[in-house]
Amino acid sequence: MAINLKGRNFICLLDFTREEIYYLLELSATLKIAKQKGTEKQPLKGYNIALLYQKDSRRTRSAFEVAAYDLGMHSTYFGPTGSQIAVKESISDTAKVLGKIYNGIQFRGYKQTDIEDLAQNAGVPVWNALTDLYHPTQMLADIMTIQECKKIKDVKGIKFVYFGDARFNMANSYMIISAKLGMNLVICSTKNLWPYPQLLKQCQDIAQETGGSITLTVDYKTASKDADVVATDVWISMGEDKKIWKQRIKDLIPYQVNKEKMKIAKPNAIFLHCLPSFHDDKTQIAQEIIKQYGGTGELEVTDEVFQSSASKIFQQSENHLHTIKAVMLATLK
Ligand code: CP
Ligand code: NVA
Repeated sequence: MAINLKGRNFICLLDFTREEIYYLLELSATLKIAKQKGTEKQPLKGYNIALLYQKDSRRTRSAFEVAAYDLGMHSTYFGPTGSQIAVKESISDTAKVLGKIYNGIQFRGYKQTDIEDLAQNAGVPVWNALTDLYHPTQMLADIMTIQECKKIKDVKGIKFVYFGDARFNMANSYMIISAKLGMNLVICSTKNLWPYPQLLKQCQDIAQETGGSITLTVDYKTASKDADVVATDVWISMGEDKKIWKQRIKDLIPYQVNKEKMKIAKPNAIFLHCLPSFHDDKTQIAQEIIKQYGGTGELEVTDEVFQSSASKIFQQSENHLHTIKAVMLATLK
């Protein structure tokens, strides 16, 4: 049956079938080629979208804005301080107002329940640009990068190893996408940062049907053996208390992606990171961490791996544009 996503929300990948995810990935690849060739047609001329941000963003916001312009749409940005959302005006009232004015709404914020509320009341497609729980547009960008680097369409059987904090948006989303697409996901982290059991069980059940797997380990020395993909994320996510840096560094330093971990992966293994990343001393926060806790500013990944030829982070970052464009096009047209 032909796939039609018009009118759908894109707030969690659990809502999408394998076929629908591959449909979005194929559309992303088509749109990427069209952009490279300069043959884009602006199929959504006259449409308007709202971009709601409770948290900051560089990549995702750029991707939504540029994708909107490329598709012929106008966008309005409501930043963390320029919006009354959930402060003076409830999510549902905001949704009803914006849904009458805009054709689609993008939300980046804290609670997944807020975006669910938005989606229930807007009457137009709502897209998740990151919540504490999930980052679904990033997942499409990551899978697209794997497809391109490995020259494959179907990622079933790919060994994907994730190191680091395993109970926030990136790890949660890797569990879902791995389960849906039949990848073999290994989560390597300290036990106190292992995934929430309920989501883990749900994903493991899906993986059983798709031929994938999700396993957990603390064995950071061998986890990446024969990996096709090695990935990590920041150790403290947006919205978390900065006071926990000391404990996080202590907990997660053994799980830093370094050359030893990459050496035992497959020779053509790639490294992914959604960014931004702490891999050197060139940021203000890294400087503060160095001052307080010592070290070089390299946290979740060493600069050596970050800068290596295995690292596909900027390709991954660019692909976020094409996948976001595909999500908006597919749900609006
Ligand atoms: N990867 C990602 O979502 O980056 P931003 O926080 O800059 O949007
Ligand atoms: N886990 C990170 C992802 C950033 C794209 C955060 O939520 O800050």
